[in-house]
Amino acid sequence: MDYKEILKEIKPSIAEREKVRKIAKEAIDYINKKSKKENIGVEAILVGSVAKDTWLSGKADIDIFINFSLEKSEDYLKEKGLYLGYECSNHLNGIAEEHYASHPYITSHIKGYDVDFVPCYKIANASQLKSAVDRTLLHTQYMEKHLDSNQKDEVLLLKKFMSEVGTYGSEFKVGGFAGYLCEILILKYGSFENTLKAASEWKNKTKIDLENYGTSNLFKDPLIAIDPTDENRNVAASLRMEKMAEFVIASRNFLLANKKKIDYFHEISKKIDFDKIISQFKDRKTKIITIKFNIPNVPADSLHPQLRKTQQSIEEKLESNDFSVFKSDYWTDENKIAIFIFELNVYKQNKYRIHEGPKIWDKKASSNFLASHPDISYILEDTLVLNKKREFETAQKFIKFVLSYENIHIIKIGKNLKDTIVDSYELNDIDYLLNNDAYLNDKTNISYFNDFLNFLDDFLNPGQLLKR
Ligand code: CTP
Ligand code: MG
Repeated sequence: MDYKEILKEIKPSIAEREKVRKIAKEAIDYINKKSKKENIGVEAILVGSVAKDTWLSGKADIDIFINFSLEKSEDYLKEKGLYLGYECSNHLNGIAEEHYASHPYITSHIKGYDVDFVPCYKIANASQLKSAVDRTLLHTQYMEKHLDSNQKDEVLLLKKFMSEVGTYGSEFKVGGFAGYLCEILILKYGSFENTLKAASEWKNKTKIDLENYGTSNLFKDPLIAIDPTDENRNVAASLRMEKMAEFVIASRNFLLANKKKIDYFHEISKKIDFDKIISQFKDRKTKIITIKFNIPNVPADSLHPQLRKTQQSIEEKLESNDFSVFKSDYWTDENKIAIFIFELNVYKQNKYRIHEGPKIWDKKASSNFLASHPDISYILEDTLVLNKKREFETAQKFIKFVLSYENIHIIKIGKNLKDTIVDSYELNDIDYLLNNDAYLNDKTNISYFNDFLNFLDDFLNPGQLLKR
């Protein structure tokens, strides 16, 4: 296939590159001048995909790292790093927002671009690492040295393909491939197409070790890509098995496609229809229970794992109480609310469950059991049993029981979620939620509502992005 047409769309034009580089340069010059004037002793530099020339047109996030020397304290780094970020943002008329990764940093919206100001330590190799972000400088240097200009184009094709099949992005919400991992794949396999050919043959626990460190046996992840700048790190550690599997299937689909190959580089056109979603749920003849609640004010990368953990724990407890969960998932607008959705094929029980006592071979235990329950015990195979009234005849009752301060310990709950979920949760079926929920139906929240519909569409029809 000829990729020239696609590259024309996704490769930043000279004008776009100049514009981005100019903003980056202004910011960097300002910080370095300010640092000199106030004797702060730092150096700002450009890192990430803008520095590496591996960013997709229209998608530049400008990563500026503020380097502190190793002998500076962490408090000093935090204080001065934030200070310089805010000052620079103000100087360039940006709108700044504070974030927390392993330590605080600032994202500022400047002239239509997101600019990250991240304080870090200037390290020469991974053994000097003080915080996780310190590696980024080494990554940038490594890729600047090893990727030639053709390979940079191949990285763009891979990133774009990954984006459109839904496997790009290492943030927890996606659990997919990081930009740096895409670059490693291109160095390993040489081109976009060769990467897909290789991926179509991948097995579980595929190992990539560009620098032949021989440390891949330290890891148990489904894909092991040893960081060429740090033998003790797997760059693919945050890649979920499911996302890796999706990429393998999308690669096979792409390689087998004849005419439609180009479509893999464009967004699929989805017609999301409210009534269709409702009728698809009805058609499944399952019971849908949604739990909507307010979210705490924590960063997205902390919120998502907590939501996942809680939703999975509720699912497990439903199962262990004899309800049967067909599918469950969670959604959040990352602003005010989150919604768990449980689709059950068994949501209602009979009145009794069988309670098992001892085996009849244990004479003493059997006599005790019979003495305590003289009229209701009976034998199943070689076990004494009795019928016990269930505490929870419906899944709703069980959920209401659990989501209270007294009983919440029954589930594993994300550490910041306990109060907000107990205090604010609402239990509804999907119809009611979509039609009547005041927050979702508030006109100012229309983009969240549409995002939720999109999520439900994926819930009902998974894997749509993997083929064309
Ligand atoms: N990084 C990393 N592992 C991750 C995420 C980020 O090592 N899971 C480092 C990489 O060195 C990356 C840098 O942080 O280059 C900046 O992160 P990000 O902006 O997410 O990636 P980019 O490479 O800049 O790719 P893009 O912005 O185009 O998605
Ligand atoms: Mg970036």
